[in-house]
Amino acid sequence: MVPTPPMGFNNWNSTHCRAEFDEAMVKGIADIFVEKGLKDAGYEYVNLDDCWALPERDANGKLVPDPKRFPQGIKAVADYVHGKGLKLGIYTSAGTKTCNSAGFPGALGHERSDAQQFAEWGVDYLKYDNCNNQGVDAKQRYTAMRDALRAASETTGRPIVYSICEWGENKPWEWAADVGHLWRTTGDISDSWGSMLSIMKQNLPLAKYAGPGHWNDPDMLEVGNGGMTDTEYRTHFSMWSIMAAPLLIGSDLRKASPATFEILGNKEVIAVDQDPLGRQGEVLSSQDGRWVVAKEMKDGSRAVALFNENGTAQSVSTTAKAVGLPDAAGYTLRDLWRHKSFNTAGRISATVPAHGTVLLRVTADGEWAKQPPAVELGAKGAALVEAGKRADLTSEVTDLGRTSAHKVSVSLGGPAGWRLRATSPTTASVLRTGEKLTTAWSVTAPVGTSPGTYGLTLKTTYRSPRGVRSESVLPLTANVVVAPPAGSSALGDLPWISASNGWGPVERNTSNGENAAGDGNPITIGGQTYAKGLGVHAPSSVEYYAGAACEKVSALVGVDDEKLSRGTVAFEIWADTRKVASTGVLTNAMPAQELSADVTGAQTIRLVVTDGEDGNDSDHADWAETTLSC
Ligand code: GLA
Repeated sequence: MVPTPPMGFNNWNSTHCRAEFDEAMVKGIADIFVEKGLKDAGYEYVNLDDCWALPERDANGKLVPDPKRFPQGIKAVADYVHGKGLKLGIYTSAGTKTCNSAGFPGALGHERSDAQQFAEWGVDYLKYDNCNNQGVDAKQRYTAMRDALRAASETTGRPIVYSICEWGENKPWEWAADVGHLWRTTGDISDSWGSMLSIMKQNLPLAKYAGPGHWNDPDMLEVGNGGMTDTEYRTHFSMWSIMAAPLLIGSDLRKASPATFEILGNKEVIAVDQDPLGRQGEVLSSQDGRWVVAKEMKDGSRAVALFNENGTAQSVSTTAKAVGLPDAAGYTLRDLWRHKSFNTAGRISATVPAHGTVLLRVTADGEWAKQPPAVELGAKGAALVEAGKRADLTSEVTDLGRTSAHKVSVSLGGPAGWRLRATSPTTASVLRTGEKLTTAWSVTAPVGTSPGTYGLTLKTTYRSPRGVRSESVLPLTANVVVAPPAGSSALGDLPWISASNGWGPVERNTSNGENAAGDGNPITIGGQTYAKGLGVHAPSSVEYYAGAACEKVSALVGVDDEKLSRGTVAFEIWADTRKVASTGVLTNAMPAQELSADVTGAQTIRLVVTDGEDGNDSDHADWAETTLSC
């Protein structure tokens, strides 16, 4: 059972407990699955999360669906969903109550009766949470429900997929392969780059535990919920697929954009996730935020994710040999987002935009000669630009193909008013395997350009030996920055280049309130309140421009008092690519610690907070009285 990772929908990430989670939503999603081709693409389960029930059981101890949300009950919804050829999932907790503070009933001690009720309603999938578990042993709690589900599905003849949701607390990958079909490996995801990234990094090392019928579950998808860019959502979807993760859509598809449908409906990416061999991709290398993850596929090909965690474009590379393919003169390299095939002599390489992923399927199939050569289009420089001052950029077009690239040309585009000039040739008549066209550019933003991020577009066109024209585009970002003022400045008041955070936005001069901008409290550490600073939530990184003009960063750091006894974090200061100061793990019980660093000569400074390696629950971290001296 469950030979490939489950695919479907769950309402939690888009609605939480809000009233819009109701029968109309569930039916609407089922309709869209059929109408928009998502059912055809493999999405099958329509799952209800917490808050579907009334807080009290009835006189017979039975669960009662909330009549406001589900006026016709759950069976009617199951019938509707089944009528569309889809399946229905439900949720409860392996505790006395579910996780929501309204206190909906949990199944601890009611396993047989609740499982029977689910089966009678026609439920096909159960997500079984971990809240209010009364300290009862996890193995025991989750096994009791497994047995109850087995017994119940015998009475109905309907198998029930069993999703263990204990957040990785008891290492279910070590014991749950014959208990559940999938198990959460981490705490809850949120709709932010930092959260997605931290969950991905916790799930990747668990590759060897996943396989048909027993999958690692790094939590549901956030694609389409608005907190990440489409590039970041493509990374999220690519990485979940190469990790053979369950693909449970978490956005309200009734309001989804065409881009969201395009990401979620990418059948070539879904085929990586759903490959029948059932391998979870393994990390082949990860260096300075450049990741290569490879997944063996049933047909002998390899899916390869070239993922760039950095805020600037980076070259990420491997080889056909390193991903496990046999020796061959050439390979077919299929780009699963561009839907195009190329040939390579063996190098698998791409310059990947900031936070992007190039997802490839590489085959030693003897068909490579039919494809045009792959080229890598790369660039260095001009990431930080002071308005009115010339910055240098170098572009490179490299032929990766076994065949040569002909009539190669490269161009650079940017915002209106910017001066973009090539100072060396932009064309080459032919590039053979491994040869490159290197072009120098000067980039000048007009005087008065406001600080911020601007897009530049590098593009190359070339022809295969047979004359087939290909093009490749690399989006780049140039940050227009201002040199920091001389003397000492409060970093809470200076503009940053970029900021990422586990929950909600980074706050200036207050703590982090987890949701909307401006929802924090006065910064308070160890009973002491500070007027100035930054309030962040691990995992977090805030980057500033120093322009080689500054000497020192100093701060008082700690976990904000607002989470009472919870939250453990570690603080780091980075000067360009060097970590120049760090604390050990700090807890909520500790007073503010002094942290300072010599940042002489640095172009950029980053203030980083990690989760203390215990997940990012309640990690409200404060950079109090943080100053930059220049
Ligand atoms: C826990 C789970 C989430 C969600 C909520 C519902 O936090 O991990 O995925 O189900 O409970 O209350």
